[in-house]
Amino acid sequence: MPTTTSNPNVVDEIIKSFQLPDDSLTVITQKILEAFKLGTDGNPNGLAMTPTFVTSVPNGTEKGTFLTLDFESAAFRVSQVKLDGKRNLSSADKIVDLSAQDKTGEATAFFDLVADSVRGFLAENGIQGSTSNPLPLGVTFGFPVQKTGIKNAKLAAWTKGFSVQNAVGKDVSTLLQDALDRKKIPVKCVSVVNDTAAIFLAQSYLSGGCVLAAIFGVGTNGAFPEEIAKIKKLHNTPSLSTTGKMILNTEWGAFDNQASISNRNVLPRTPYDNKLHRESLRPGFQSFEKMVSWMYLGEIARNIFVFLIDQSPPALFGGKSTPALNAQFGFDSYYLTLVEQANSLTDIKAVLVEHLGLKSEDISDADASIVRAVSIAVTTRSARLAACAVAAGLVYRGHLALGPRAPAGPKLPVAVYGELMLLYPQFQTRLHEALTAITGKGTQERVDFIQVKDGGALGAALSAFEATTIQK
Ligand code: BGC
Repeated sequence: MPTTTSNPNVVDEIIKSFQLPDDSLTVITQKILEAFKLGTDGNPNGLAMTPTFVTSVPNGTEKGTFLTLDFESAAFRVSQVKLDGKRNLSSADKIVDLSAQDKTGEATAFFDLVADSVRGFLAENGIQGSTSNPLPLGVTFGFPVQKTGIKNAKLAAWTKGFSVQNAVGKDVSTLLQDALDRKKIPVKCVSVVNDTAAIFLAQSYLSGGCVLAAIFGVGTNGAFPEEIAKIKKLHNTPSLSTTGKMILNTEWGAFDNQASISNRNVLPRTPYDNKLHRESLRPGFQSFEKMVSWMYLGEIARNIFVFLIDQSPPALFGGKSTPALNAQFGFDSYYLTLVEQANSLTDIKAVLVEHLGLKSEDISDADASIVRAVSIAVTTRSARLAACAVAAGLVYRGHLALGPRAPAGPKLPVAVYGELMLLYPQFQTRLHEALTAITGKGTQERVDFIQVKDGGALGAALSAFEATTIQK
């Protein structure tokens, strides 16, 4: 057996620093609510609360054929989506993987790659357009943008590890259209929507609506409809009717950003979060996202493991590390799910041997238990913070209130997407528990999380439908 002389206090202290008691959840939820309100009022200290210019909620009768592009973090997908007007769809897809070079190179190279992939997709599927009758294209783009119409989307910042050069401050639909035009591809970009808005639209088309859409994947964000009359930023938009609602993209991943004057330092950051920030592409930004989303949870856990390995005497693996454990992002969030799904300490050890290159003789039972406790602590904090954002959305829209008991009432469907929802069963359970702690007993009976798979392409098609038939 290895001779790990672990100091249980070090581990206990770390686990404790990740715990968020129920009353702190309420405080964080109140702060997020405040940030929603400031943002909707156009105050730059609030969250972005970006108007999406999506003003009509699908009811399943939408019909038409649209090309779509859905940008995810590791790949983008070109599709042709056919809506039959009876809540069904069919689609042909092509997935194009993105290399690290694609994500950090020049914008022209990036959009040339996208345009070439669209051309390839059209050729492979025998789809033809013409200069006089270009094919309408809807885009789902999960990054913060400023919008002045359903098509325009000026990139505000990259997130989730992207840093394509010379794109920030430019309109994404223009960059894309220029590339398509340069290559004489008869396709016209008609809409650009955030991925949360896309999920909202997709869920509405497929099964009759939701009150909130949330993504807990590589990044995190939420969107919900708001009265146009209340969105102060839109008051100078003459073409827009002031009645009705519009989907607002909260960009809640930016909550507690260092750059904002109010609502910062609300989240209890640990040294492991600070290290993550310092080594990230944009330290101080996407603060909430960096504690909640799939991209970062494994890295937070890795920071803890390395700290414990480096203790004197060592508090983990007898002080042994491996190249994977030493590398930034060397511990994938997926391993957290494997550790939590493991049935025994022996199974946890097998995960560590297989994925981190540790030698089994260097992992004691105590080490395996520590790895499990750290995994649970990091994901539980993520799920509890996620609950604050969901609660804030539901309270903001008047569906629930902060307090000990949720009122009886209709079901509140929340459309969700992302790795934490799809791959991590405990995440959803903990999210629900924390939500109940914030909005009271009875919440579980009211709030239904509905997984929307492939909502990016469908949502893009529905936004293209709105752009070409309703807002034309
Ligand atoms: C982006 C959001 C997006 C979210 C989920 C965040 O990093 O800023 O626009 O909705 O990730 O993909």
